[in-house]
Amino acid sequence: MYMMVISSALALCAGAAGAAALQIPLLSSHKQAPIQVADEPKPLVNSSALQDLISGDRLMVRAKKMFEIAKLGEDEYNHPTRVIGSAGHLGTLSYIYETILQLGDYYSISNQSFPAVSGNVFESRLVLGNEVPKSAAPMGLTPPTKDKQPVYGALVLVENEGCQPSDFPDTVGGNIAFIKRGTCPFGTKSENAGLKGAAAAVVYNYDKDPVAGTLGTPSPNHVATFGLSGAEAAPIIKKLEKNEYVDAIAYMDAEVNQILTANIIAQTTEGDPDNCVMLGAHSDSVAEGPGINDDGSGTMSLLEVATQLTKFNVSNCVRFAWWAGEEEGLLGSDYYVATLPEEENMKIRLFMDYDMMASPNFAYQVYNATNAVNPNGSEELRDLYLDWYKEQVLNYTFIPFDGRSDYDGFIRNGIPGGGIATGAEGIKTEEEEEMFGGKAGDWYDPCYHQLCDNLGNLNMTAWVVNTKLIAHSVATYARSFKGFPKRTASVASAAYENEIKYHGSKLFI
Ligand SMILES: *[C@@H]1O[C@H](CO)[C@@H](O)[C@H](O)[C@H]1NC(C)=O
Ligand SMILES: *[C@@H]1O[C@H](CO)[C@@H](O)[C@H](O)[C@H]1NC(C)=O
Ligand SMILES: *[C@@H]1O[C@H](CO)[C@@H](O)[C@H](O)[C@H]1NC(C)=O
Ligand SMILES: *[C@@H]1O[C@H](CO)[C@@H](O)[C@H](O)[C@H]1NC(C)=O
Ligand SMILES: *[C@@H]1O[C@H](CO)[C@@H](O)[C@H](O)[C@H]1NC(C)=O
Ligand SMILES: *[C@@H]1O[C@H](CO)[C@@H](O)[C@H](O)[C@H]1NC(C)=O
Ligand SMILES: *[C@@H]1O[C@H](CO)[C@@H](O)[C@H](O)[C@H]1NC(C)=O
Ligand SMILES: [Zn+2]
Repeated sequence: MYMMVISSALALCAGAAGAAALQIPLLSSHKQAPIQVADEPKPLVNSSALQDLISGDRLMVRAKKMFEIAKLGEDEYNHPTRVIGSAGHLGTLSYIYETILQLGDYYSISNQSFPAVSGNVFESRLVLGNEVPKSAAPMGLTPPTKDKQPVYGALVLVENEGCQPSDFPDTVGGNIAFIKRGTCPFGTKSENAGLKGAAAAVVYNYDKDPVAGTLGTPSPNHVATFGLSGAEAAPIIKKLEKNEYVDAIAYMDAEVNQILTANIIAQTTEGDPDNCVMLGAHSDSVAEGPGINDDGSGTMSLLEVATQLTKFNVSNCVRFAWWAGEEEGLLGSDYYVATLPEEENMKIRLFMDYDMMASPNFAYQVYNATNAVNPNGSEELRDLYLDWYKEQVLNYTFIPFDGRSDYDGFIRNGIPGGGIATGAEGIKTEEEEEMFGGKAGDWYDPCYHQLCDNLGNLNMTAWVVNTKLIAHSVATYARSFKGFPKRTASVASAAYENEIKYHGSKLFI
């Protein structure tokens, strides 16, 4: 589940045809021969049989493995992580690839490489006058200060919102630009500061809140850039407006790298290839932690369902996807849908998103994807989830279907979609405590995007329940699309654009 109010949208265009592919290293020292599955006839998949094969023990074995893999990120990040570009993420890709490879010829696997930008801030510090502002935070994809050393200078107030180079007084050269948020992307402000020779930049908010954001596509003119809350900026602006001198120290030890990462796609070799059931989870975590719930849980649920599915035959093709770069702004799923030819788009009957299946303070959340706003069929999928929870006598809630996970690119390209989740940084209500247990007033996932998203951050009850529901969704549509709307156009309705809170260009500023 990605957080940012501000999208970085940084899948770079794959340059020349035949661009390099990411080599996913194999975990095992010797290449394992795929298990040859005997070609005896298999029963057509059915939901209850597939659900019965889902067990918490098997999921937990995978979770332990996933945490070991996250530790591969320790060398570079000093803690476990599976962020794109890290050894922890490469290990995750290898684990997914090998798991599917071992299932023999039941699936065909492909790695879809795509270029992305990965940023990492190792250390940073901002001092304004005599204060170390609490809200100061490095912008995503910020470059370091010169030679990764502190820079000293005057804080220089920029006119307007710093969207034009002419907003920057010449005195900003060698000093630190103080720029108001708004009107243009953060990256433009930083670039303009750099063009005028500023040594660093601070973007302060127009309201009292902090600013978190990203500079977006790297530019050689970007300078080290911090966000600052309007509340902490206000007294400083007063001084600067009275032409009082405010000195500043900025220090940023950071790196921005262009990397290759990859989506992994596994499709059944049996089943009608013109009518595919598609589902996905994201293979990456944020840099701050190992991401065992977000989205290790969904990643492992899909691996387990894919494994158990091999005991059955399917009528419709089933296509599993493990997306990369979700946390940087849904990069992998966007790239996948954007590069899908029209006729391939039309073969996908629906897309099901499984991001965060086991939040410790969970609610059973169903995306409220209706046909009024989304491609025809989204509501039938939503109702499949509702019917199942009702049948199990479990409570559920609706949550907005507003572009916060990998379904976004599918909906925008006319493919019906939906999914379930168990909650991120939202707060559980009293009512929900009665419905699901847990603790009102706390986040659904108190370790959301943190170091503690580890093996202790899984509610096994929720994880097993939701993995069975994933199995139900796969079995239902792999068996038949009877009653499910046919695909129509591959373009989104305007109605969906109004729902988006997380992934539009307006969110850059
Ligand atoms: C995907 O990556 C694995 C590991 O590097 C490699 O063995 C395999 O050939 C690749 N598959 C495709 C279809 O490129
Ligand atoms: C799966 O079902 C199809 C159609 O019913 C059949 O032709 C095929 O042999 C079956 N495959 C297996 C492995 O059972
Ligand atoms: C589901 O599959 C199992 C195992 O093949 C079989 O025993 C059972 O009868 C099937 N149930 C239905 C409803 O088809
Ligand atoms: C679900 O979305 C529809 C609009 O698409 C809206 O009318 C309805 O109130 C929503 N339901 C809930 C419970 O949010
Ligand atoms: C569902 O929620 C109600 C309160 O709205 C509660 O009384 C009931 O126990 C809950 N059911 C389950 C299975 O948790
Ligand atoms: C998982 O959630 C259920 C229901 O709220 C609770 O009874 C159980 O103790 C939780 N398990 C863990 C390991 O937190
Ligand atoms: C949606 O699908 C249903 C069932 O297939 C169909 O009756 C209806 O006309 C479709 N609606 C639209 C707007 O295409
Ligand atoms: Zn997330």
